[in-house]
Amino acid sequence: MGRVTARDIVKMKGREKIVMVTAYDYPTARIVDEAGVDVILVGDSLGMVVLGYESTLPVTLEDMIIHTRAVARAKPRALVVGDMPFGSYESSDSRAVESAIEFARAGADAVKLEGGSEYSDRIRSIVRAGIPVMGHIGLTPQRMLRLGGYRPQGRRAAEARELLRDAEEVEAAGAFSLVIEFTAEEVAARITERVSIPTICIGSGRKCDGQVLVLHDILGLTAHTPPFAKRYIDLWSLAVKAVKEYKNEVRKGLFPGEEHVIHAKEKIDV
Ligand code: KIV
Repeated sequence: MGRVTARDIVKMKGREKIVMVTAYDYPTARIVDEAGVDVILVGDSLGMVVLGYESTLPVTLEDMIIHTRAVARAKPRALVVGDMPFGSYESSDSRAVESAIEFARAGADAVKLEGGSEYSDRIRSIVRAGIPVMGHIGLTPQRMLRLGGYRPQGRRAAEARELLRDAEEVEAAGAFSLVIEFTAEEVAARITERVSIPTICIGSGRKCDGQVLVLHDILGLTAHTPPFAKRYIDLWSLAVKAVKEYKNEVRKGLFPGEEHVIHAKEKIDV
């Protein structure tokens, strides 16, 4: 099987659920690719789950490029999508295209950007430059200052109508797929019926064409799991247990053992 392309993802709509997950470095990219996911998102969520920021706002284009390169070095079969961080596309179409080109040079197969109809020109420009774009509507964490925090979206008819319009404009601008984050299930379902590009949801219910989760939530490597995410393993506790065991063995002189030691080949008399 060859590498997954943006066109392959488009063709999956209505046929098979699309599986997307974040990865931020070489080992996590290898792990999720070995598990057989369709899309790896180098998400700006790395600001919170890897770099320890309280939001995604401090994440820079430079941060994202370093992590995208690390993921690309894993040579995954999955499509690699680079997440355009806050400040890398808002000011102009040319800034957006330049940033997207940096992602492509770092090994991304596509980019994702947050925003609906207000950013359709940016999407159009990046697609014209030859780089596939994934849209992202609903809760857009980069706009949290304006949204007033991480609140669910589209629970009222007026907001739902606006989201539907956003989805249609993102599609018309040439996006190949669309992330819908933390909206009422009914709205995501309606959007999924109305647009011909695949919808990939996080916290927006079951009726979408695919799902995305943050890897660190799946693995139990975050302090709090959002209510819409599922923790499949508690790696944090397992890791603490392993490091404690190492600490105890060092204190007791049990590590390193004979099997971890090399010996001189002749008498050392220095
Ligand atoms: O940065 C990220 O991980 C994301 C997903 C939550 C969709 O944008």
